[in-house]
Amino acid sequence: MSAKIIDGKQIASDIRNELKAEVEKLKTKNIVPGLGVILVGTDAASISYVTAKEKACADIGIYSDDNRLNENTSEKDLLALIDKMNKDPKINGILVQLPLPKHIDEEKVLLAIDPVKDVDGFHPVSIGKMVTGQKAFISCTPHGVLQLLIRSGVKLEGAEVVIVGRSNIVGKPLANLLMQKSDMGNATVTVCHTRTKDIASHTKRADIVIAAAGRPNTITADMIKAGAAVIDVGINRVEDATKKRGYRLIGDVDFENVSKKAGFITPVPGGVGPMTITMLLYNTVESAKIANGLV
Ligand code: GUN
Repeated sequence: MSAKIIDGKQIASDIRNELKAEVEKLKTKNIVPGLGVILVGTDAASISYVTAKEKACADIGIYSDDNRLNENTSEKDLLALIDKMNKDPKINGILVQLPLPKHIDEEKVLLAIDPVKDVDGFHPVSIGKMVTGQKAFISCTPHGVLQLLIRSGVKLEGAEVVIVGRSNIVGKPLANLLMQKSDMGNATVTVCHTRTKDIASHTKRADIVIAAAGRPNTITADMIKAGAAVIDVGINRVEDATKKRGYRLIGDVDFENVSKKAGFITPVPGGVGPMTITMLLYNTVESAKIANGLV
């Protein structure tokens, strides 16, 4: 058997087209969703993320207020900019690109963002609401994973889901969302991590395996059940002299062999990756609707 490839680029493009139509409709009511983006420093990966976010906003008609700050920007100045954005009615969502330089307290910065503009879903208020099943901004990568599964027709209700990885931004929120009594949940969830005794004993009985460990070959073919859906959240750089940039990107899953046994699988790149920014756009449009009393 050969797995159906879940095409993240296509699904992301479908959602972006839906959002574009929605933004056009909002514009007829004189509502323009706005995203404030803050990047501190010159980290190459962060610059490329932020550039992609700005372009994605422009593509679907979201106003974006782009702020690229010097590496030496003080915490006080950063907090002042966030405060200004909190008060700016043109801004519906605020995104501070992580990681921040070492002299800035990340926790303090995330807490400074008004939860009504927390389109990253990183604020403890957003997380608390999400865990207790209240309406909240869902952080973008977990939300993207759920959309990939739902839009590929993978049934979540009653499914045995095993998540490998317990990070605050992927494993933990995904586990909470999947166990919720909701259309995006109703699954039975197990979370494996570095101290799990026998990861394979869990993944082998899973209908859905989500790999978010940040380590290549975390999931191999002998670890999954035939026909399982396998979602790969990992992005790992491996040296590759045949590439101009000297490396290529691989996930946490042994794609070549797992794809021969799984029922569904996401590639890396082109799986979860394109969904993260898409769900950020989704949250920004939602926030604009909430701010204008439309939901
Ligand atoms: N750095 C890497 N990914 C992300 C993300 O989704 N949001 C923010 N704010 N920073 C990131």
